[in-house]
Amino acid sequence: MHENGSYDGPTQCQSSLGMGSTGVSRETHDPLTIVRGFGVSDVGGGSRAARFGFGFTVAPQQPGGLAVGGPRAMVNDPPDADPVSQPTSAMPVYEGSGGPNTIVSAAGHRGKGSEIDSVRQAREPEDPPLAQEAKRAIQILNPSGEIQMPRPPKTRVFCVANQKGGVGKTTSVVNIAVALALHGNRVLVIDLDPQGNASTGLDVPHHAAIPDVYDSVVNETAISDVVQAVSGIPNLWCVPATIDLAGAEIELVSMVARESRLLRALQGHSAAYDYIFIDCPPSLGLLTVNALVAAQEVMIPIQCEYYALEGVQQLSNNIQLVKNHLNPALDVTTVLLTMYDRRTRLADAVEQDVRAHFGDRVLTAVIPRNVRVSEAPSYGQSVMTYDPGSRGATSYFEAALEIATRGANLGAVG
Ligand SMILES: Nc1ncnc2c1ncn2[C@@H]1O[C@H](COP(=O)(O)OP(=O)(O)OP(=O)(O)O)[C@@H](O)[C@H]1O
Ligand SMILES: [Mg+2]
Repeated sequence: MHENGSYDGPTQCQSSLGMGSTGVSRETHDPLTIVRGFGVSDVGGGSRAARFGFGFTVAPQQPGGLAVGGPRAMVNDPPDADPVSQPTSAMPVYEGSGGPNTIVSAAGHRGKGSEIDSVRQAREPEDPPLAQEAKRAIQILNPSGEIQMPRPPKTRVFCVANQKGGVGKTTSVVNIAVALALHGNRVLVIDLDPQGNASTGLDVPHHAAIPDVYDSVVNETAISDVVQAVSGIPNLWCVPATIDLAGAEIELVSMVARESRLLRALQGHSAAYDYIFIDCPPSLGLLTVNALVAAQEVMIPIQCEYYALEGVQQLSNNIQLVKNHLNPALDVTTVLLTMYDRRTRLADAVEQDVRAHFGDRVLTAVIPRNVRVSEAPSYGQSVMTYDPGSRGATSYFEAALEIATRGANLGAVG
């Protein structure tokens, strides 16, 4: 329990990082009060900018959101398609110039050691606020730099699905993607939900006229032409969803190869990434089927609430149908318990049920219900950078670490 009475999460989430949330977390120090879904009722000092519903950003002094780094190109170059040749590091350090994705080694050297160090030191004050948040996040989450998130031998494509709404699909995609990217993995998030929540959470422009996933799925535009680099987070890209996607379910019905259009758009481009996470809408319609056909792995976030498992059987049936007829490689590899509240016996009962049903596919890390997790999108940030010391951030860090470790242990997954 926090000083302020907020709940900190289950025991297994308080382990390996060896730190409490006080001292580094804003959980006990920040006076801001959030009105869920509509941003902040009091925008105090500090570098963050609160975002109000409908995409407005309030940035009175020092914007930490959209304004950072000046105007941004709509479409950014995806990474080179050679994952093996890129440097890997537990704690990537990136330079203040040369683009958001320029990484040097864990020791901070890419070539001439001291020269680069002094240049970097000289540049450090110029890092945009978001890049500083990312650096700070790594320092807090992985202070010794010893924890590695090994890159998989080949691209892992996750469909993150649960037709039940509001269970934490998008939140999990955003935070796990950021955690993996901050630790040297090259990650693509595909927002396949017309709500566009993943695009909002990563602060990627997704208003009408922006090239988006609709163009890929309906108009056969290559994924590389609709991808955007995520500002301030090295190694992270996003294919946004705009309002156009709202009509896609209906348009797809009469299209040729309607179930495999996302797969086609990805072909030839996926090898550029270590991880691709597809954030699905809360339905089992054609968009979700496209995600299931394009992926090898399914991640099911399950909220620790009553009715949690209701609908999961139907999801499992659909996954089996897709596996039988369209994508034999598909498997549910990862189940993530979200919004766990240890104060309730119900959460414990749900956890036991889910573990009995899915066995070791359920991650040991459990995501607690944590107010910082729900505040972060208001600032166009993940909780990993918004409040790296919070229980939400450390739990997502542990979940990402487990996913990475499992992938490495499994060898070539998918
Ligand atoms: N661990 C958490 N603690 C507190 N709030 C959370 C947590 N995880 C998610 N939330 C909040 O719960 C709400 C639903 O989360 P999210 O949007 O990730 O679910 P979803 O499954 O993607 O929803 P949808 O089905 O609409 O796409 C959001 O307001 C989010 O901020
Ligand atoms: Mg969502």
